Amino acid sequence: MKPILKWAGGKSRLASRICDAFNGPCEGTYYEPFAGSGAVFLHRKARGTIKRAVLSDANGKLMAFHRAIRDQVDDVIQAIAELPREDWRERYYEVREAYNKGPWEGPEHAARFAWLNRAGYNGLYRENRLGGYNVPMGSYARLTLPEPACFWQVSHLFRDVELLDGGFDLILPRIGQGDHIYCDPPYVPLTATANFTAYCKEPFGPEQQRKLAEMAEHAATKGARVVLSNHDVPLVHDELYVRARGFEMVGQPSVARAISRNAAERKAVGEVIAAIGPRKRAA
Ligand SMILES: C[S@@+](CC[C@H](N)C(=O)[O-])C[C@H]1O[C@@H](n2cnc3c(N)ncnc32)[C@H](O)[C@@H]1O
Repeated sequence: MKPILKWAGGKSRLASRICDAFNGPCEGTYYEPFAGSGAVFLHRKARGTIKRAVLSDANGKLMAFHRAIRDQVDDVIQAIAELPREDWRERYYEVREAYNKGPWEGPEHAARFAWLNRAGYNGLYRENRLGGYNVPMGSYARLTLPEPACFWQVSHLFRDVELLDGGFDLILPRIGQGDHIYCDPPYVPLTATANFTAYCKEPFGPEQQRKLAEMAEHAATKGARVVLSNHDVPLVHDELYVRARGFEMVGQPSVARAISRNAAERKAVGEVIAAIGPRKRAA
């Protein structure tokens, strides 16, 4: 099941390997506190390996998009049909301006969000300091929007799912025995000078990375299994997801990063899939 959105760092291609790291179905609640496009959730839900789920993300406009898909999908499809198609290039900045005026909840918002995601540069989501979406127009021969069937399928999978705005620590007080948590934060940069994709106004620096590793350790003590993705760099192995503190490395996939500015730079980079918490396969 592919997500509606293209999302930087989206995990469609790795969803199956990430799911394997949970070692079986989720008996408690499934949490995904860096939801993005929801690729891993959608994969697991479509396969019936989760029942209750809570998805959250610090990008509130993204979560409002998901809520509209869950609650008002037909209105969203209708609102998308009213947005430019053939003349999308001439009208890109008009739609972007309308999006930045709001409202940032409901079907109109969701329609513009999906449209800009496909018409904007490489599916990036970036805002300026004032919270204005400022991604330039993409250079596509034609605008390709997802089919209504895709919206309906995702809406169906989101039914009864809690979709919340907020930082990853929002879920901390709720975690308990049998829960599964998939954490896909903005990655540690590959080099000291590299900047990573800005999804939100607040940067996700080393302190946030450490807090997340601590949250994972805490969740494991409560009987939850946590799976985390990040770049395969020394900071991740030696300081964040450390074996001595109970983390296991369960996968080292190489994925072609699709977010680089030019195609020549889109080479494969190493990632890690780490896990902590009970390993037992459910019977
Ligand atoms: C790598 S992406 C997640 C991609 C997702 N797994 C997918 O398949 O689409 C990271 C996400 O973390 C969110 N984010 C950034 N800082 C955050 C924070 N402090 N707390 C929660 N989410 C945050 C971003 O908005 C972004 O959607």
